[in-house]
Amino acid sequence: MERSFKNILVTGGAGFIGSNMIRYLLGEKIDFEGRVINLDLLTYAGNLENLSGVAEKAGKRYVFVKGDIRDKSLVEEVFEEFDVDSVIHFAAESHVDRSIVSPDAFITTNVIGTFNLLEAAKKAWEGKDNDILFHHISTDEVYGSLGPHGYFREDSPYDPHSPYSASKAASDHLVMAYHHTYGLPVTLSNCSNNYGPYQFPEKFIPLMILNMLEGKPLPIYGDGKNIRDWLYVEDHNIAVWLIMKKGILGQKYNIGGENEWENIKLVNKLIYIISCEAKKDPELLKKLIVFVKDRPGHDRRYAIDCGKIKRELGWRQTVEFEEGLRRTVRWYMEHMDWVNRVRSGEYMRWIELNYLKR
Ligand code: NAD
Ligand code: TYD
Repeated sequence: MERSFKNILVTGGAGFIGSNMIRYLLGEKIDFEGRVINLDLLTYAGNLENLSGVAEKAGKRYVFVKGDIRDKSLVEEVFEEFDVDSVIHFAAESHVDRSIVSPDAFITTNVIGTFNLLEAAKKAWEGKDNDILFHHISTDEVYGSLGPHGYFREDSPYDPHSPYSASKAASDHLVMAYHHTYGLPVTLSNCSNNYGPYQFPEKFIPLMILNMLEGKPLPIYGDGKNIRDWLYVEDHNIAVWLIMKKGILGQKYNIGGENEWENIKLVNKLIYIISCEAKKDPELLKKLIVFVKDRPGHDRRYAIDCGKIKRELGWRQTVEFEEGLRRTVRWYMEHMDWVNRVRSGEYMRWIELNYLKR
């Protein structure tokens, strides 16, 4: 039987994947009629503009709470006040390079924040059995780095290498421990690299797109031969919803694009796409490529075996890579105001003025 929810708490719903998820939950494509409570601290990566139009359209079905998952009493209040019956936990510090420079927030948000949510869920759901679920969003980076062959499977050992992936691995273990020890109904997904609209321009694909559009250098770490498996963000969220509805409690599901690209080959593909979409000279774009000092501890290759979610839940990728990249390039070209505001920090000042911390 499929689960059904009334009040879904989405943490980190103002970030890249979380905001796409909220649009999906409140859109026409799925059978969900309940309410979404978006709990987000609005760090540099969280932006309410990512959800423009959502509150107006959804009315009472959408609530925003500005708050920190590291604040235990706030998290408990949110569960109580909104009668939360399910969680999709996206909130995290998510950028590897930042975790190398300043890991503190990665440990507090990703580990302590997840712990607070698990504790609050355990308390709020005591005595309840059906239609409650804690879904934890994680990454393929917890599995470490692959050589030229092989894939990450659900039973691959954890071997995280960066403070980011180590903090995500710790949170994954906590989620599973709450299932095994306290019987908390949980599911977990480990996804490969996402791309698409609203991604913060520090990440590889939006950074490269914007630098190409603006004629700035394209910094490639190391030899450019590191490999990532790319998935369009909407396909990630379709998978998450399937797990929410039908995933087996206590199980983890790998989600991936089955779409591996060396960074340098991906940049060349983007050069081709941007030369078509933005009428730029591809030879001039190629001259912008610069190989820079490698990221410390840079994982060589990620590649996901997502056979389990395909077989068991019937999930498939729906957006072909070139089509997804074209959509993404067009989105950034049409949303330069968003980009400029994100970069200038203007939206952070607006938040300070408009939202008092609870
Ligand atoms: P993001 O950085 O764009 O968004 C993170 C959101 O969390 C932001 O809105 C931020 O304000 C919020 N947040 C951060 N700290 C918080 C706190 N203490 N309390 C409340 N809110 C807080 O990240 P994303 O790329 O959307 O990733 C979302 C999740 O998906 C993360 O858990 C990440 O590990 C996971 N993931 C990401 C990818 C990817 O390619 N981006 C791939 C696999 C898994
Ligand atoms: P990123 O988007 O940071 O994702 P992750 O490291 O979590 O997979 O980076 C994707 C790949 O691109 C990774 O191999 C690092 C590389 N990279 C660059 O070569 N140059 C850059 O400026 C950035 C941000 C990333």
